[in-house]
Amino acid sequence: MIVGNLLLSTNANKQNLMKNKSLISITDYSKEDYLKLIEIAEEFEKNPKQQLLKGYVIASLFFEPSTRTRLSFESAINRLGGRIVGFTDASSSSVKKGESLKDTILTVSNYSDLIVMRHPIEGSARYASEVAPVPVVNAGDGANQHPTQCLLDLYSIKKTQGTLDNLNIALVGDLKYGRTVHSLMMAMAHFNPTFNFISPESLRMPQGYKNHLDNEGIKYYEHDVLEDAIPHADIIYMTRVQKERFSDPIEYEKVKNAYVLRNAMLDETKDNLRILHPLPRVNEIHEDVDSNPKAYYFEQALNGVFMRQAILTSILGLK
Ligand code: CP
Repeated sequence: MIVGNLLLSTNANKQNLMKNKSLISITDYSKEDYLKLIEIAEEFEKNPKQQLLKGYVIASLFFEPSTRTRLSFESAINRLGGRIVGFTDASSSSVKKGESLKDTILTVSNYSDLIVMRHPIEGSARYASEVAPVPVVNAGDGANQHPTQCLLDLYSIKKTQGTLDNLNIALVGDLKYGRTVHSLMMAMAHFNPTFNFISPESLRMPQGYKNHLDNEGIKYYEHDVLEDAIPHADIIYMTRVQKERFSDPIEYEKVKNAYVLRNAMLDETKDNLRILHPLPRVNEIHEDVDSNPKAYYFEQALNGVFMRQAILTSILGLK
């Protein structure tokens, strides 16, 4: 009986771990949290129009441009019956008059139950979460982390592969500045993957992330040539070279078209291969790939709505 009570209490604690907790880095959540959120997102995919956020106000503060992250959050909130306040351009806010991030966050906390924030400075989301009395969800902080993208990527991988375990994952493009690949690599490291990192020399996966894989005993291989990693891949995750993070435009010009995935390159690939991209794309996936059944990036963007419904309702303790 005591054991039964302990088990019940442990399960209840596990279920509440996300409640009121900011989501800043994918490492703030455990493997069990990822799997729980995937289950909840599956429920929302079956029934997206649940009025769970009725009476709630979510702030959406985008200090950097966005299409998918902002609009899929807005779609998720609207489908759940919540309301949104915020801005899509910091120059229309009092930041333009010199207001600090701290003062902006403290003020917006008065008007909302949760803040979704994208900001160009690495660490800004963590800082916001430390001053805000309401939970903060990081919608991308510079080249650092993009945890909600990562969770929808996990959802997309699970949905297309039937599992997250033991997959061969090729991460391609800007592995230095691409925050989505940093988050995804850290999360997938829980599931015994084999990674292939394909990038120009100057855009390699940062050493700190590779040290983490070494410590965890995860296999990874670095390549210059995209074709080397394609035949064995279950997932090819393409990324855009992040022009806005380069201090020297000449360096960007040297690498901007380093990799272009074309339909003809997919002939000898595995049947279960799916091509993901957080989008937006520039040139790195040729449009002739779009009609290939292995292209999955637009469905991936749709999955963002269900996963963001799962994240918001879990943090607000509604699921
Ligand atoms: N994937 C992603 O973050 O896209 P947006 O920049 O359009 O939000």
